[in-house]
Amino acid sequence: MRMSNNSSTRYEITLLSRPGFTRYTRLHEDCARNRFVLLAPERAYELDPISLEVLQNIDGLTTINNLCQKLSEKFTAPLEIITRDVLNLLQGLSDKRLLQEGHNHLTKKTASGTKRDGASYVSAPTGLLAELTHRCPLQCPYCSNPLELERSNNEMSATEWAETFKQAASIGALQLHLSGGEPTARRDLEDILGYAVEVGLYTNLITSAVLLTKDQLSRLADIGLDHIQISIQDVVEENSDLISGYKGALAKKYAVANWARELGIGLTINAPMHRQNIMNLEKIIDFAVEVDAQRIEIAHIQYYAWAQKNRAALIPTHEIFLETVNIVEAAKQRLIGVLNFDFVIHDHYASRPKKCTGGWGQSIIVVTPSGTALPCHAAQTLPGLKFDNVKDQHLLKIWETSPAFNAYRGLDWMKEPCRSCDRREIDYGGCRCQAYAFSQDPAATDPACALSVDHASFAALAEQEAHAPAPAFVYRRYDGLSKK
Ligand code: SF4
Ligand code: FES
Repeated sequence: MRMSNNSSTRYEITLLSRPGFTRYTRLHEDCARNRFVLLAPERAYELDPISLEVLQNIDGLTTINNLCQKLSEKFTAPLEIITRDVLNLLQGLSDKRLLQEGHNHLTKKTASGTKRDGASYVSAPTGLLAELTHRCPLQCPYCSNPLELERSNNEMSATEWAETFKQAASIGALQLHLSGGEPTARRDLEDILGYAVEVGLYTNLITSAVLLTKDQLSRLADIGLDHIQISIQDVVEENSDLISGYKGALAKKYAVANWARELGIGLTINAPMHRQNIMNLEKIIDFAVEVDAQRIEIAHIQYYAWAQKNRAALIPTHEIFLETVNIVEAAKQRLIGVLNFDFVIHDHYASRPKKCTGGWGQSIIVVTPSGTALPCHAAQTLPGLKFDNVKDQHLLKIWETSPAFNAYRGLDWMKEPCRSCDRREIDYGGCRCQAYAFSQDPAATDPACALSVDHASFAALAEQEAHAPAPAFVYRRYDGLSKK
């Protein structure tokens, strides 16, 4: 049994354990929805009153035994039942790597909270993806940024971002993803982060890591950075260089991952999957374990923007895709309590689509470097939509009334077969951007769905491209990288 979450074995909760939260986990008062949630990397767990009571009482000092006795007396409930429920709850959180044995001086002491302006926004966004800049030293051929990259002289200032964060938090956003391009290319990143922490947002830095220094990461941790997501192109050096178009990125990522863990920052390794790195999936999982990441995202890439341009160079065969499913399933079992997996399967070989970005206009807002608010990061590829800018309109107005956010929200826009399908409120018809990219109809059923009229040709195209020799990459280039 390990006594902390800082090694590669599972932390088992027993009656003698004294669990506390890790630095990157905290209780949060979600004022916009009148509830408490547990904030963690990429997640906000809703808590029932009993779970909240338990979590308000774990401090890294109290044993489970003492905690259960106290709860049993307080609620005049049988000790065995309380003990069973507490152990189940805490073991589940421990397996997500959110707890550690003993008190951690880095852990935030009190529940955080977002301010509200008196209104309740139950159906407001829970996340804001802030593309701080499109500048990036890497050139990944599957980048999710648009083909037309925004120039640095149009980027919003730190104070304009501050106002956006304030508005987002006031209407119920919980998680902030600081993304790019490469967000650390911004000289004022520390100011920007400070504004986010001030309004109570859970902060996630999505980075290639190659520009970060240990001192800078340490300052970001001091300001309050909760979590870092490091993207990995491959763990074989030459291939990492080839895919990223950047020499020596892997060693830097390894160093930054280790600094993050030293500083108690939550760590996710993000590994987009495609035919040019898929053979190293097991080694990529080993890398995540070695750097003590809590999570790994293994996502077969989606084919729009740069990835669509490079589709023939990136798409794997169906057979190889199936191998990744087996590898991930076996690793999940082997690594319970050590590494958590988010696995996104390959759309061309799926039978049902994903609920893309949590449903159009339902959970996130993407804001581009110049302040354009989007329902998803590829929304500008769709025809006929006009997008508002956060510099001109309050975020709430954009969220509630903007025609772009309402265009594919809910069910009214759907055609058959989605309109009468019993999964329509599960996946909301899948991805609009993929539907348009393949079928030239943004209201079509996502071709990843086996019920789509385009599904057979969608899957066949993938197999055909995957079996042909891979063409050279068209790299995503951003000339003139400089810190602003
Ligand atoms: Fe989802 Fe539409 Fe397919 Fe039904 S028909 S599973 S709603 S994409
Ligand atoms: Fe735009 Fe899926 S990426 S809806």
